[in-house]
Amino acid sequence: MTKDLLRNLMGYVQAKMTASITPRWLIRLVWFRRLKMWIFPKYREMCELLYLKFQPYIFSYIKDHKKGLDEENFRDYMDFLLDLTRTDSSIGFHTIGFTLVSLYIGGTDTIANTMRWLLIQLALRPSLQERLYNELQTVKSEKGSFDQKDCHLLSSVMLENRRCFPVADSLPHQVAEDVEIEGYRFKKGEFFLGSLASIMRNPENFENPDEFLPDRFLENKEFVHDYKVCSFGVGKRNCIGQQIAKTENFYFAAEIILNFKIQFEEGAQLPKIDKNMSSVLAPEPFKLKFVHRDN
Ligand code: HEM
Repeated sequence: MTKDLLRNLMGYVQAKMTASITPRWLIRLVWFRRLKMWIFPKYREMCELLYLKFQPYIFSYIKDHKKGLDEENFRDYMDFLLDLTRTDSSIGFHTIGFTLVSLYIGGTDTIANTMRWLLIQLALRPSLQERLYNELQTVKSEKGSFDQKDCHLLSSVMLENRRCFPVADSLPHQVAEDVEIEGYRFKKGEFFLGSLASIMRNPENFENPDEFLPDRFLENKEFVHDYKVCSFGVGKRNCIGQQIAKTENFYFAAEIILNFKIQFEEGAQLPKIDKNMSSVLAPEPFKLKFVHRDN
């Protein structure tokens, strides 16, 4: 279901943006709503998914979850949200449902596709895999654990992967007051859709921006973070899940590199960008071989 939601997300956003600049009286007219559905078929599909499938499912789930709520001992985030409904009248099942949709949409295919792009880059570069493997072996403790800050090359690879393959781009933002930026005037209420890729693939910001060159973030073999890599957005409404995403991707990658050599099947084609995924930069399906290392 998340995949279907993601496929239709941009169409939904476009229709919502159009609605925000349409007079209220027009929106209330049935023929106008039908026209909107016809102009934005992805909006219709998204509405059907959200209201006919996701919402009934999540509402019954919330209802069941509420039965086990112990106000002294929260089991999870949903318990916390359910508890808020008692003290904050603006929060109800609808808010909880859409909070969960945001987390589903924001936190699933983003992490998974970041990992898929990384695996492709690694499969293309056996010597990079060896360098990473050696680094991890060197910093690994006797118990097999390691600290991210000791892994300079892997940190650089993760950052370069997010720079080259920004799986998500900026969400729509609205101007809070009239502003002028570099000669362009924006009125209060107008929409902005920033392009993170245009920052990260800009030759003024990165030399050879279209090449995957993780060593660009190493100085004397030490990892140096570059804030121009803004794959989680910029400003106050940037990604709330970035810490979990970075940590999860890092440790997944480290464990894979430590345990496997990643290879393409013989004669396999380099996967192209999956154009069906309108709102996430995803590669088309591909197959890799994971050859177990004898550590
Ligand atoms: C590699 C993984 C991820 C990437 C590249 C990514 C990227 C982004 C980007 C670019 C935005 C838009 C920021 C803006 O408009 O300025 C965003 C927003 C958001 N992300 Fe992520 N994200 C990732 C993982 C996650 C995870 C794991 C979660 C949840 C657990 C999550 C939840 C959200 C939410 C809820 C928003 C909307 C925030 C708001 O409107 O204030 N994301 N993300």
